Amino acid sequence: MAKKLFIKTYGCQMNVYDSARMADVLQPLGYAPTDSPDGADMVILNTCHIREKASEKVYSELGRLRRLKDAKESAGDGRMTIAVAGCVAQAEGEEILARAPYVDMVFGPQTYHRLPEMVAQASRAGGAVLDVEFPVEAKFDHLPDHEGPGATSAFLSIQEGCDRFCTFCVVPYTRGSEYSRDAAAIEAEARKLVTSGTREITLLGQNVNAWHGAGTNGKDWRLGRLVRHLAEIDGLDRIRYTTSHPRDMDDELIEAHGAVDKLMPYLHLPVQSGSDRILAAMNRQHTADDYLRIVERLRAARPDLALSSDFIVGFPGETDADFAATLRLISEVGYAGAYSFKYSARPGTPAAEMENQAAESVRDERLAGLQQLLGEQEAAFHHTKQGAVFPVLFEKPGRKPGQVAGRSPWMQAVVVEAPESLIGRMAECRIVGVAAHSLHGEVAVTNVDHETPAKRVCA
Ligand code: 5AD
Ligand code: SF4
Repeated sequence: MAKKLFIKTYGCQMNVYDSARMADVLQPLGYAPTDSPDGADMVILNTCHIREKASEKVYSELGRLRRLKDAKESAGDGRMTIAVAGCVAQAEGEEILARAPYVDMVFGPQTYHRLPEMVAQASRAGGAVLDVEFPVEAKFDHLPDHEGPGATSAFLSIQEGCDRFCTFCVVPYTRGSEYSRDAAAIEAEARKLVTSGTREITLLGQNVNAWHGAGTNGKDWRLGRLVRHLAEIDGLDRIRYTTSHPRDMDDELIEAHGAVDKLMPYLHLPVQSGSDRILAAMNRQHTADDYLRIVERLRAARPDLALSSDFIVGFPGETDADFAATLRLISEVGYAGAYSFKYSARPGTPAAEMENQAAESVRDERLAGLQQLLGEQEAAFHHTKQGAVFPVLFEKPGRKPGQVAGRSPWMQAVVVEAPESLIGRMAECRIVGVAAHSLHGEVAVTNVDHETPAKRVCA
């Protein structure tokens, strides 16, 4: 009988991708995914260290898992192996084992290909396994291919780590320095996904537009060139990439937004703050104006481009005037969506040592103000789609019977009354209703045109 594997994923999409790859590595050892930790033979928490709250969640979850582990063992149902993976494991390996000695394995994001050895080691008596080494070799070269039917929309990791060292951020320490996979390996994985049924690929990286690697023609490519290359894959209909740094938004990539139809008109381009003083203290290496100029050029290349961003409020030393500058920048750009966070001091980062850490009450107040404005912009953006007709890629059944759910080119959830046979396919839809977090549509055209993918309405 298959052993039950439960993976709980916290944080970013890179962790979602990594969790899927861990399941791939463990499959040959007889582990099959299950959707509850109760009675599981192995539980992996794939953790996030980006903000304090994200890390603390891990320790409370470990407390719950300990009870499940004890219950399983006292019921004579065998052992539950508890593992902590991801960025908390990387940053706090020893501390986890001290605080939660019932944990069997702790391993960082660069070690997943060594999981089979770790499992063997952990099953032998005597202490926990700790592996938080950074690799001499790249883990990507050692991970098995994903087997089985692919999701309609899938992630593909092309770059990992970050050399930008924003002063608030732990990523350069937990994920290490930038590493880019070769174009040929990326193309092979993309083709495999498409063969398995994937229609949309989101290229992932901590600083994805810093990607640069050996192209299939032997030359050094950057992301714009890679996107053009992947767009040539038949059956791949949509390409996205995330997350980008404004400084790495080069001409070739901006041009690709205008030239490549398959590159979707939605871009997550975090700015963090609209104040030049705070941007400098954050070591973002650009001004508010630099960012606005990049947005202008992107919109000139692709007029229907929608943008989202990340914002941090209450960075050390942020004044009312700095915060007002952030609100101004938001008003100027007009975002379709955004994530906003209260600054959280992360041990080991330069900003954690800065004076003038903002009071909690100030952070709360600013976050509420920011979210109010961003919420209004998001709602306004959704309303611009009322009555519009555009292709929707259907991914899953809707919440109510008789409905299917998909995504607009701008990442909006779209729900339509239609048969489940639409799942995995694209259909031109008209938007007839706008709710807070989704659009309601109806299928506008249902003829099938396999010969001309560009004009295809329902493939
Ligand atoms: N405090 C608050 N937010 C942070 N982020 C990264 N580090 C911190 C921190 N220390 C946010 C940034 C980043 C997103 C992934 O998380 O906005 O873009
Ligand atoms: Fe962190 Fe992104 Fe800055 Fe890199 S660019 S240090 S991942 S916030």
